[in-house]
Amino acid sequence: MKAQTDSDVCPWVSKFAPLVPTAGMVMDLACGKGRHTGYFLAKGHPVIALDRDTTGVTAFADNPACKVITFDLEAPVLIDADHKTMTYDAQLPFYEQELACIVVVNYLYRPLLPLLSQSLRSGGILIYQTFMTGNDVYGRPRNPDFLLKPGELSETLNRDLEQIDFFEGYVDTPKPAVIQSYCGRKP
Ligand SMILES: C[S@@+](CC[C@H](N)C(=O)[O-])C[C@H]1O[C@@H](n2cnc3c(N)ncnc32)[C@H](O)[C@@H]1O
Repeated sequence: MKAQTDSDVCPWVSKFAPLVPTAGMVMDLACGKGRHTGYFLAKGHPVIALDRDTTGVTAFADNPACKVITFDLEAPVLIDADHKTMTYDAQLPFYEQELACIVVVNYLYRPLLPLLSQSLRSGGILIYQTFMTGNDVYGRPRNPDFLLKPGELSETLNRDLEQIDFFEGYVDTPKPAVIQSYCGRKP
């Protein structure tokens, strides 16, 4: 397997990784090929790597510090009558897990946002970055379901977390895009 280098890692993640409690459990949610899984493993954290398609992280499967979970985050247990609220229960594999950190990069499923803080332990860190409104000019995603609204991460996550930093706007690296980035701590 290719060695994990810091250049593979989202700079927003490496900026706030030092805030994660030492040796605390990290969840790489929608982990893809596991660039952040490898990054946190190398920093001495146990990691849960979750994705609906975990073929990208098979190389980590033999690592005793890594738990790979294949799970569809968009298959709710219960949808309320007006289809506005989706409810998960203990079947959500990270529900109330007392995680030291959750990392989400380039993935959005709105019903999950309020649930993330419930899975963090006190002092746990949420590091989130994904695309927002305006990104459609530069490329995918263009579907509004996958694009954050202005201020959305702050507004939603600050109900349960103490915001450490927030950014939204245009970036030109690693490619031109409009993104939103959030880091917060569970009180
Ligand atoms: C753009 S990739 C980002 C991967 C990784 N977070 C990164 O930044 O390198 C989006 C990931 O979300 C995962 N994904 C999409 N829908 C999902 C779902 N319903 N449940 C779980 N994972 C999903 C995809 O399989 C893919 O690996």
